[in-house]
Amino acid sequence: MTQTGLFITLEGIDGAGKSTAMEYINQRISQASRKTRLTREPGGTVVGEQIREILLNPHNQALSMDAELLLMFAARAQHLNEVIRPALECGDVVICNRFTDSSYAYQGGGRGIEETRIRLLQDWTQQELQPDLTLLFNIDVETGLCRAGKRSQADLDDRFKVYADRFEQETMDFFERVRNCYLQRARRYPERYRLVESGQPLDNVKQQIDHILQREGLC
Ligand code: TYD
Repeated sequence: MTQTGLFITLEGIDGAGKSTAMEYINQRISQASRKTRLTREPGGTVVGEQIREILLNPHNQALSMDAELLLMFAARAQHLNEVIRPALECGDVVICNRFTDSSYAYQGGGRGIEETRIRLLQDWTQQELQPDLTLLFNIDVETGLCRAGKRSQADLDDRFKVYADRFEQETMDFFERVRNCYLQRARRYPERYRLVESGQPLDNVKQQIDHILQREGLC
């Protein structure tokens, strides 16, 4: 079936400010009288949210990196089938907090899984479907993790780790690799990636978003 909607994804390291931005983007696009559908990964469906619990649970230290990757794509397959494709077929603007670029950045860049394996799963679950627009919220790792509220400035008072999910407990090096992988992908796919410098004050971030949405004819 042909896709008539628009698929927008939001990406970035933890604490990059995607959630606040998502509300703003939704507001701007809805005002321009497009119907939006907000969702997230991993999750977005009843089954996907159950998979998310396994993935984020800090007690699941034994989860292997291959199992982690496959669970991400299991949740994604369900999400595509149940939410994303139907909404796009209805002509909606789907705004998704994280998608497959997160798998390349976290499981590929962060964990070190070969890109070809991720590509295989992408082809299997998505076929030709790709985001039309990906906003990458770029922030330095230390600021991002502090904003996520889970870490102390000087890396990492152990007390904070109690509240952190399985990914947020990763090292600064891990998040540096994730961030670098995102930036490489942004250079590789300039037709859909747009960079938002999200270490800036909120008003400035909103201006950057407005500029991007205007250029895409979305507000
Ligand atoms: P979440 O709390 O939603 O992160 P954020 O608030 O920053 O969006 O947690 C989702 C976590 O899952 C996040 O740490 C990144 C990770 N993730 C992957 O490792 N691979 C993936 O494919 C996806 C979708 C998420």
